[in-house]
Amino acid sequence: MPQDTLSITDNRTGKAYELKIENGCIRAMDLRQIKTGPEDFGLMAYDPAFLNTANCRSAITYIDGDKGILEYRGYPIEQLAEQSSHLEVSYLLMNGELPTKTQLDDFVNKITLHTYVHENIKGFMDGFRYDAHPMSMLASTVAALSSFYPEAKNVKSKDVRRVQMNRLIAKMPTLAAFSHRHSQGLPYVYPNNELSYTENFLTMVKSIGTTNWRPHKALVKALDILFILHADHEQNCSTTATRVVGSSEVDPYSAVAAGITALYGPLHGGANEAVLRMLREIGDKKNVAEFIKRVKAGDGTKLMGFGHRVYKNYDPRAKVIKKACDEVFAVTGKNPLLDIAVELERIALQDDYFVQRKLYPNVDFYSGLIYEAMGFPAEFFTLLFAIPRTVGWVTQWEEMITDNEQKISRPRQIFTGQRGRNYVAIDKR
Ligand code: ACO
Repeated sequence: MPQDTLSITDNRTGKAYELKIENGCIRAMDLRQIKTGPEDFGLMAYDPAFLNTANCRSAITYIDGDKGILEYRGYPIEQLAEQSSHLEVSYLLMNGELPTKTQLDDFVNKITLHTYVHENIKGFMDGFRYDAHPMSMLASTVAALSSFYPEAKNVKSKDVRRVQMNRLIAKMPTLAAFSHRHSQGLPYVYPNNELSYTENFLTMVKSIGTTNWRPHKALVKALDILFILHADHEQNCSTTATRVVGSSEVDPYSAVAAGITALYGPLHGGANEAVLRMLREIGDKKNVAEFIKRVKAGDGTKLMGFGHRVYKNYDPRAKVIKKACDEVFAVTGKNPLLDIAVELERIALQDDYFVQRKLYPNVDFYSGLIYEAMGFPAEFFTLLFAIPRTVGWVTQWEEMITDNEQKISRPRQIFTGQRGRNYVAIDKR
């Protein structure tokens, strides 16, 4: 009769243990009882980079990396991208259900009411050098928001939490647009609360010299789809950073600022910027085969925008983005780098190196091409990820805060250094 347990024999002592298996996991703390004697701390699991460790229970986002499935609260990403809007998806992520018309109107109204930032934020922005990376500006200004809302420390109150979550979702496009305007030496454009979330953002970024400039509807729609695709992705690096920092019960602005800094890295949200640099370096379709050879030679060159820790199949978000490319390029004209990207994908997907390692295009492979065609400079791409991911960060943060099993995050280590040394005076070293 099969049982949901794991039998372990410790060959150091000959003792046998039976550990419970639940949801395909054993509890790491159950290993602690396995000791060689009373002085022994007990067995631990060693898992650098959390390759095989579940850090929480979560009901928000489901990924099946082998089958290439992504669902928010049970709804497939493809259906949401086609039929929903970013704010409706945000409501779904935060509340677990799709909203009724009244609920959605109320939510959109609440977000819209919070789009303005304190005037002092502009002074804060002005302190950055003209060439500061907009992600550094975004991370710093989001962290600074905690100084404007001291009540945000009250993380145990649902009402307080929800106001901060709305504020973060609402203010992120404003802060992102301000950081872009600063780096371009342009005056800030205030939010226009008569516009949709995404249209308002594009207007704050692009509008110059007129109050009635509006972005093309097709571009607003395409960007909103990209926002939906980026809204959450379960326990990725930036979400884990947000959860870990938030587990100290710091306010959500500080926790989300940690998420933003994690996202800044080239192996995470910075990858689409790296994809464009790579495509430019390749320069022409005819150089693709040579580039693939270099990647396979293992000289450290990576095919950026390929591979994923979880997806061992085509990233479902990359499929939707590839489709959105056509709609954007119909308005902006084709990005000439697209041909190189398509050729790279074609060659890589039939090459043994990539097939054996299950390396497929990820969300970043095509998104940079769209952003560039829309006129965003490469250093701004990661902000286009941070804006929509904000709802994921705050939803995951709230789930962590309200989970009775969670405590302050504090991993263990295997100590490899020296011990018990005596201090030596500086003139004796
Ligand atoms: N190009 C070439 N080889 C690759 C690539 C790549 N893009 N990605 C992985 N590999 C190879 C590795 O060298 C390794 O080969 P080996 O077994 O011969 O040593 C094998 O595939 C397994 O790769 P790992 O590095 O172990 O995979 P891991 O899960 O740690 O890394 C990651 C995932 C970081 C995304 C990696 O695939 C990568 O660096 N890709 C390029 C950067 C990128 O596109 N990042 C965006 C990810 S999506 C996101 O964050 C939104």
